[in-house]
Amino acid sequence: MIVVTGATGNIGRPLVAALAEAGEEVVAVSRSARPEGLPAGVRAARAELGDFASMKPVLEGADAFFILLAGELNGPGEPAVNLLDIAKEGGVKRVVLVSSQLAGTRTDTPSHDRLREFEAAVRGSGLEYTILRPGGFASNAFAWAESVRTGRTVFAPFGDVALPVVDPADIADVAAVALREDGHSGRTYVLTGPEAVGPRQQVAQLSEVLGEEVTYVELTREQAAEAMSSFMPEAVVEGTLDVLGAPLAVEQEVSPDVEKVLGRPARPFGAWVARSLPAFA
Ligand SMILES: NC(=O)c1ccc[n+]([C@@H]2O[C@H](COP(=O)([O-])OP(=O)(O)OC[C@H]3O[C@@H](n4cnc5c(N)ncnc54)[C@H](OP(=O)(O)O)[C@@H]3O)[C@@H](O)[C@H]2O)c1
Repeated sequence: MIVVTGATGNIGRPLVAALAEAGEEVVAVSRSARPEGLPAGVRAARAELGDFASMKPVLEGADAFFILLAGELNGPGEPAVNLLDIAKEGGVKRVVLVSSQLAGTRTDTPSHDRLREFEAAVRGSGLEYTILRPGGFASNAFAWAESVRTGRTVFAPFGDVALPVVDPADIADVAAVALREDGHSGRTYVLTGPEAVGPRQQVAQLSEVLGEEVTYVELTREQAAEAMSSFMPEAVVEGTLDVLGAPLAVEQEVSPDVEKVLGRPARPFGAWVARSLPAFA
């Protein structure tokens, strides 16, 4: 049995589908009692990853555990080792954690302290583990959906700063392999897309797939910070803008790890756009 947290999200949905398709018994964790759109045969468990006690009954009898810390779960909380202890008591043998590339490249950013704490807990747990360190997600472009739908315009900073954004479906595919197959224990994989693309180029690809002109309007860093501070803590806003505006050379490089694990190239940004078109149409 494989327990998947974040099961209704960008990575969780394709992951649950891939595991179910492979014939695995899957438990999809959600804060909602009846999450919509789960594949047939997948069991939903209502729990809150931020409340470790609620995870105890869910992890009872599980073989593998996928951990994804969304939203404020990336902030302070119970010691991460406690969750790993609960998993071990429940019988879990293998853990896959979604961390971030920045946990490795920006070792002093407080916004990634929680992920680093979880990485250390997973590494010290004595369980088989795989840590996934993705770069920026292609799905961050969902933030543009409303202004594209209503005015065919994207407002974003740093138009020509390119990063190799990763399709969450590729993260899900790598996670499925690490959860199901031997040979990935003790590994940390950096996951990126196949090429670096900046916002201006992403918008051009969106226009092409949509078949309609979408205008790109470049925001200053200050304008972007103001817009983002309505839904993100200030430290996270500044940290995110540092990466988007002045990435380190290593953060702009394409990692070989998706292809190494999956035996096929990572999906390009355009593939994510094509699958996600209803959000922008
Ligand atoms: N976005 C990026 O560019 C990027 C880059 C590198 C790493 N990451 C890492 O990826 C993880 C997040 O991925 P994501 O943003 O794509 O997640 P997401 O898919 O938006 O969220 C996954 C699910 O988590 C559940 N959830 C449980 N507690 C939550 C809470 N307190 N707040 C919000 N959702 C909660 C929600 O499901 P229910 O409502 O069903 O409970 C949600 O559907 C984080 O650990 C982040 O550090 C992100």
